[in-house]
Amino acid sequence: MKNISIIAVFALLLLSCNGQNHKKDSSKKNQSKKEQQVTAIDTAKIIQRGDSISMFTGKTLMGQLQAAMGRGGIEEAVKYCNVNAYPLTDSISNKFNVSISRVAERNRNPENSLQEQDVPVFEQYKNNEDLGSLVKTHGDDIYFYKPINLKGFCVSCHGNIENNIGEENYALIKKLYPNDKAINFSPGDLRGMWKIKFEENGKL
Ligand code: HEC
Repeated sequence: MKNISIIAVFALLLLSCNGQNHKKDSSKKNQSKKEQQVTAIDTAKIIQRGDSISMFTGKTLMGQLQAAMGRGGIEEAVKYCNVNAYPLTDSISNKFNVSISRVAERNRNPENSLQEQDVPVFEQYKNNEDLGSLVKTHGDDIYFYKPINLKGFCVSCHGNIENNIGEENYALIKKLYPNDKAINFSPGDLRGMWKIKFEENGKL
């Protein structure tokens, strides 16, 4: 009799332990589900913010570039970009509390080279023309990427030297950017990509 009751107590203990474990497991599952949901929402938010910030920056840069072209042609526009592309982008970065850059494999300004973490993303864009905005994490940082494709009017500075840019204009570009690799592009080509670093999730 004694033995049976001891076994019964053991069995009860085992059962209750299992029960508790089960509860813990399911609450863990719920928690990770919640975390996954939060991440999904943040990704969508980052895509939305990144899309609007990159569009705003692109419009601003191109607006200023076209105004400079109107004032003094390609020469004036190249000089304008050389002096102002960075300060302009930086001031927009400060406004939105992010770090905006444009990076490219065949770059004009070596400051815009691909970093190690950008290389696989650029490869993805090379291999899939339809791929749009992406969010990637690197350490604690969150990065937004978006491909930049060449438009018709970009060839006057990024196209073929003979037919699009002209020897004289290219001489000026080479003077300002001795290591220029950003020529021989055609409209529609992948020219580079937007890269926006979001410092903190809370500041979205
Ligand atoms: C008037 C000449 C000119 C035109 C037109 C022009 N660019 Fe550029 N582009 C430049 C210069 C100069 C730089 C280097 C800016 C710098 O010093 O950061 C540059 C840099 C870039 C970069 C940054 C990566 C790199 O190579 O350094 C991208 C991306 C880019 N251009 C894309 C475009 C696209 C897309 C268009 C058309 C919508 C365009 N550009 C039209 C002159 C031009």
